[in-house]
Amino acid sequence: GLAVGGIATAAGLFHRHGDGTAEPLRIADRIDPGQSVAFAYPGDEDWAVAIRLADGTLVAYSSICTHLACGVLWRADRGEHGELYCPCHEGVFDARTGRVTAGPPPRPLPRVIVEERADGIYATGTARSDTAAEGGR
Ligand code: FES
Repeated sequence: GLAVGGIATAAGLFHRHGDGTAEPLRIADRIDPGQSVAFAYPGDEDWAVAIRLADGTLVAYSSICTHLACGVLWRADRGEHGELYCPCHEGVFDARTGRVTAGPPPRPLPRVIVEERADGIYATGTARSDTAAEGGR
C-alpha cells in the first residue's frame, strides 16, 4: 500500500475495531471542488473516497455500500451538493453526512477522517458517520 509512517499525531491515530491502528495516509496533493480521489484505507481491501464538495468542504467515506458491499460512485451533479450512489440496488448516500437518502442500505457510509496538511491531504482515521465531526482539520 501507500501507507506513510512516522508522521502520526496523537489526534490522528485511530484504533479500528480493536485490530490495529490506522496510520496517516497521504492521498493527494489537492482535491478541487466537485472532484474525488479513491484510495485504500486503512488496508488494501478497504476502499474509500475523498470528495471536495462544491462549497469547499472536504469529506471522505468508505466506498463499500452498507447494503451488500458494492462499490459506491461519486456523482457531483446530483442533489444539493452531490451524492454517493450505489449502482447495485440504487442506494444513495448524502455526500455531506454519509447518511442514506434512498434505497436499501441500512446504515450510513463509515466516515474516513481527512486532514489538509502543508504537503497534501491525508486520511488519518475512521469513524461512524453519525458521530463524526466535520471533515477537514
Ligand atoms: Fe448498494 Fe445494494 S449493494 S444498494
